[in-house]
Order: sequence, then structure tokens, then C-alpha cells
Amino acid sequence: MTTIDARSLGTSVRRIEGPDKVLGTAHYAAEAPVENPLHLRPVQATVARGTVTAIDTAAAEALPGVVAVITHEQAPRLVDGGDPEVLVLQDRTVVHRGQYVAAVLAETSEVAAEAASLVVVTYDEEAQTTGFDPDSPELYAPSVLGNGQAADTVVGDPDAALASAAVTVDATYTTPVEHHTPMEPHATVARWDGDRLEVHESSQGVGLAQQVLAGLFGLEPEDVRVVSPHVGGGFGTKGFLHAGSVLTVLAARLVPGRPVRFALSRQEMFQTVGYRATTVQHLRLGASADGTLTAVAHDVVAGSARWKEFVEPAGGSSRSMYATATLRTSHRAVPLDLDAPTYMRAPGEAPGSLGLECAMDELAVALGIDPIELRVRNEPSVHPESGLPYSSRNLVACLRTGAERFGWADRDPRPRTRLVDGWWHGTGVAAGTFPAFRMPGSTANIAFSEGRYRVEIGAADIGQGARTVLTQIAADALAVPVDRISVVIGSTDVPPGSIAGGSAGTASWGSTIAEAADRFRDKWGDDPEDGSEADAATPDNPWAEELAMAAHCAQFAEVAVHADTGEVRVPRLLGVYGVGNVLNPQLARSQLRGGIIWGLSMALHEESVVDPRFGQVVNHDLAGYHIAANADVRDVEAIWVDEDDPYVNPMGAKGIGEIGIVGVAAAIANAAYHATGVRVRSLPITCDAFL
Ligand code: MOS
Repeated sequence: MTTIDARSLGTSVRRIEGPDKVLGTAHYAAEAPVENPLHLRPVQATVARGTVTAIDTAAAEALPGVVAVITHEQAPRLVDGGDPEVLVLQDRTVVHRGQYVAAVLAETSEVAAEAASLVVVTYDEEAQTTGFDPDSPELYAPSVLGNGQAADTVVGDPDAALASAAVTVDATYTTPVEHHTPMEPHATVARWDGDRLEVHESSQGVGLAQQVLAGLFGLEPEDVRVVSPHVGGGFGTKGFLHAGSVLTVLAARLVPGRPVRFALSRQEMFQTVGYRATTVQHLRLGASADGTLTAVAHDVVAGSARWKEFVEPAGGSSRSMYATATLRTSHRAVPLDLDAPTYMRAPGEAPGSLGLECAMDELAVALGIDPIELRVRNEPSVHPESGLPYSSRNLVACLRTGAERFGWADRDPRPRTRLVDGWWHGTGVAAGTFPAFRMPGSTANIAFSEGRYRVEIGAADIGQGARTVLTQIAADALAVPVDRISVVIGSTDVPPGSIAGGSAGTASWGSTIAEAADRFRDKWGDDPEDGSEADAATPDNPWAEELAMAAHCAQFAEVAVHADTGEVRVPRLLGVYGVGNVLNPQLARSQLRGGIIWGLSMALHEESVVDPRFGQVVNHDLAGYHIAANADVRDVEAIWVDEDDPYVNPMGAKGIGEIGIVGVAAAIANAAYHATGVRVRSLPITCDAFL
């Protein structure tokens, strides 16, 4: 594997599409430049579980401007590819409240909305369970977790080790349902031209969307065009197609030649596009008096949907954080009659780090050892589960660098001892990890013409800056300045790209571009003629079976809790990252700080409240579902340690999309304990906990 000679990489090249975004000329899916679109408004189930017995569409159809009302009775049949979520309007069954049971097409969105409200649906309602109960009699062991890992693992006999440990921690931590709130809600514009389909979709991966749509409608992939030039945030919810996208395409089938537009409202973002499920995490740690871990047990119960399983892998990262003589992780699922959970930024690691890293803090207190020293003492020399050496692992450097920067040395470990102007102050630390890998399945094409290299790959810029960093990678791999590169992404018109997910986008697409650049230079040299061209598929990483690869982080938080009101403030956050080479410091800092801010939001604000009588998220908007706003966000800093890793990919870079959020909520919870002496083990951390 060749390593790219960095010239542009490592510098803060400005976001290429920045001016278009600022000027408003960058098109998002709902703004797709189509002629004379029809507007779709859905009709959503008002029961959580049951059967549709009748749909009366007469009043809706009579409304001037209504073009069609589509129900399961006349909806085109879809090919079942195994994902029930995208089999929209195929039968009478209702599996969650908010499920689409019909849709209206009209000349304006106002008429469509009015008509949708006139559709009368009657149901046979069945008994449902939408309230999460970790002791549910329906609890079961899933065969696999949402990230493909095994649900349960065990090394040695943790129970025996806990029974004989000098010091133990036994505590339960919970995280609530959380919904994705990208700035741009999901949107689809679809148009059929005979048996050819064009879709403008807000998507983390046009290639996957193309495959799924082709499968559902029995088409060849080349007859499905998906475009997604700009995406206003994805965070996991835009990785896989949800029901609304397919509903739009189905409805468009009824009006050949006419584009159909469906843009979800913010409220609809809380109903049909997934969420992070509730987790209840039972942590048991055992250690000898010097702080050496002898047992880690991380037993998780998570919410899932009865009709589509997705189990948050919250115990997954506990398999690789620390050296321990014995280790158990387990996951059990509660089947609920809700929308199906899905991937959300650092699925598993984000909630799972709350459990393990707060438990480590509790252990440090019980042992009378500094929490940083406790972690350093249990740093593994190899990957604890696989036994493989790491390509690079700098968790200790992250902790030490952060301690220095944050001013940890003077920290008085005693809780509830710093009352300043009516606020209790404290500091906390937590650590985290996120795997570094690359996805197969991309192809990059490089073509030279009139002095410029055109680089094509179906990658996705979801706001992270993919277009810019791929330009830098191509420039350095071809050994030319960035202004001679044109990168074309976000469309199935160009060769396929894997999804922007798993923090693996840059690693996957970049490795592919680097390979194509090598081929191009081998074939045409550095002074090519017009028409010179080369392509390459994603190369396998030759080290993938021999080395463990992961990013690491140390998160530091200062928290102030008002002595009278319990109000929680976070004046200072610092994340220190071991992520290999940082390819564009400005974009990386922005990405990592975004992750930290979401961690703050997760710690203090975010909670979707399900009304168990109806299966409805009651706080389904940004008034009721608070996300951290400017007033909540104070001093947030992201830095990184030097980390030379020639094994991960030709750029030497690990993914940074998700590691930013990992451990932040735990650092804040630990700081809140240090401030007040009150141990909050349930997110979000609100005033009442301190009163
Ligand atoms: Mo990410 S949650 O893998 O889009």
C-alpha cells in the first residue's frame, strides 16, 4: 500500500461548495430544479398496532387541485427485498403510529395537506406495547446487533472475578430515545419516465438508494438515477431509505412524467425515519486495590421494533476499551410497536460510553485513584478481544495531552467543594473509541482533459466536507495542485460510492481515489494527454486481518450546577483525539466540535418522550425536543495528538465523523458528580436531579 505524499492534505483548503451554500445556489433535494411538480402529503396511522379496515377518500378526491389519493388498494406492488420498512402501502397492517397508510398528490402542498386531513381511515386496533420496560416479559436475545457484531461475548468468569474483587462498582445507566435533527429534513423528488426513474434524495449514499429502489420496483439499477448533490446533515438517518422516499416513488408511478415532491416536516422527522432507542446498561466492574481491572460486565437492554429489529450495540465498545482479566457483554431487546430504531452518530459507542465511562469514574472514586490514572493503568497492549496489535492507539496520549491542556493537575478530587457565586463547579473526564475501517464497493474514475483531472465517485457530502477533502486526496495522489482537480460526487451518473457512514467515508472513497490515481500515473505518467483515463475499485486493506484499527479520544468537561435551582451549565469542553493524520484541520475541527456539541446536547437536553397509550412521541418538534443552541454552547475545543498510522489507508487517516460525540455525555455526568456529589446515571441530566 502506497502512502500519499501530503502537500494539500493537512492544510485547511476552504469548503469547495461553501460559496454556493452561502449564496443559496446549492440545491438540496426538495429544491431539485424540476418542472411543475406535484406535492405529496401523507396520511399517517393514528393507532400503534392493528389493521386498516376502510379508507374513505371521497372528500379528499373532491377537493379542487387534488390529482390522486393513493392507498394500499391501488398502490403498485413492490418486490420484497427483506426490509419491511420500505414495503409501503402493500397491505392493511399497521405496525406503528405514524406509519403511512395513504398519500395525497395535489397541485400545491396546501391542498395536499388539506386533502390528507379529509381522508378517513378506520382501524381494527390491537393491543400494543410502546412503553419501554427493561423487565418486559417479551425481552429476547437478538442474534446480531445493529452494527453486525455478536450480541453476547464472554472472556473468563466475570461473576467469579467480581465476587473476589477488592473493589467493585455495580450501577445501572440509562439513555432515552433520541431523534435525529439534521438541519435539512428528509426530502424526495421522484419522476418516472416510462420504466426509468429519477429521484432527488437527501441521502448519505446514492448508490445504495439506487440498489434498493431498483430492487423494490423490479428495475435494472441503470434505469434508476439518484442524485443528491448537497445534504444538510445525515447522522445515520439518511444512510438507508425510509418509508417516505418509497412512498414518493410509488405515488409518482401514478402520474407518469410528472415529478412528485415530498419534504418531511420537522414533526414528521419524529415519526418515520428512525431514532436511537432507549438503553438500560448494567455495569459491573471489579478491580484489585491498585486499580487493575479484574472484571468488566456490560449488560444492555435496548428498545427495538417488533416488526423490524435494530439493537443499539451499546456494549460493543466495552470489548476494546480496557485490559481486563474477565469480560462479559450482553444485549437483550424489548420489541415495541414503534417506528424502527436505526443508526445514529456513533451507534453503540455514544450511549455505551455513558455506561462504561461513568462506571470507571465511580470505580476511580471507590479506589481513591485519579480517573485518568485508572484508565492509563488499564490501557491494553493489544486489542482486548481479538488479541491483535493496534495499527496505532494513542488513548494514553489523548488523556495526558488533555490533562495538560485542561489543567487537570491541580484537581481536588473531593466532590462538592467548589461553590463559586452560587454555582457548584466540577470537572470530569471520559474516554472513547470508534473503529477505523473502509467499506468495499466504490469505484473511482479519473479522466484528464484541458489541463484538469476530473475525478468521479458516487460519494456523499453530507456537510462534513467530503467534496473538499476528496479533492485534496486526488490532488496529492496525482501530485498536482488542488485547482487542477474537479471532483464529481453525489449522483449515480458517476461510478458507485459506498455510503457516508461508519466514519468510513473518507477512508473508503479516498483509498479508492488513491488507487485510481496510482493506476492513472502508471498508465499515463505525470504529463497526460487529453482523454487519458483510469479507474479503480476500492482496494482491500492488506493489514485488515493483522492489525486492530480504531480512533480514540479523551473528553474533558467542566460543569457548573446552580446550588438553588439545579440548573446545569457546561462552561468548558475539550476533546482530544487520536485519529491518524488530520486531512483538513478546519473541516476536522468543525466535524469534531459538532460531535462534542451533540454530546453536550445528549447529556443535558435530548429526550423523546413516548406516550405509551398511543405510541406517539409527544415532544415532536424543536420546541419540545431541545437540542443544544448557542446559549448552551460555551467554550468547545477539539484538538488531536500526533499519530502516524501508515496501515489504515494511503492517507493515514482514521474517520472522524463519530468519535467526536463518544464519551462526552459521560465526561459531563462525571463532572456533574464532581461538582455536586450527586451521581446522575440517567440522561438527560436535568435540574431535578440536584434538588
Ligand atoms: Mo453513521 S450513524 O454510520 O451514518
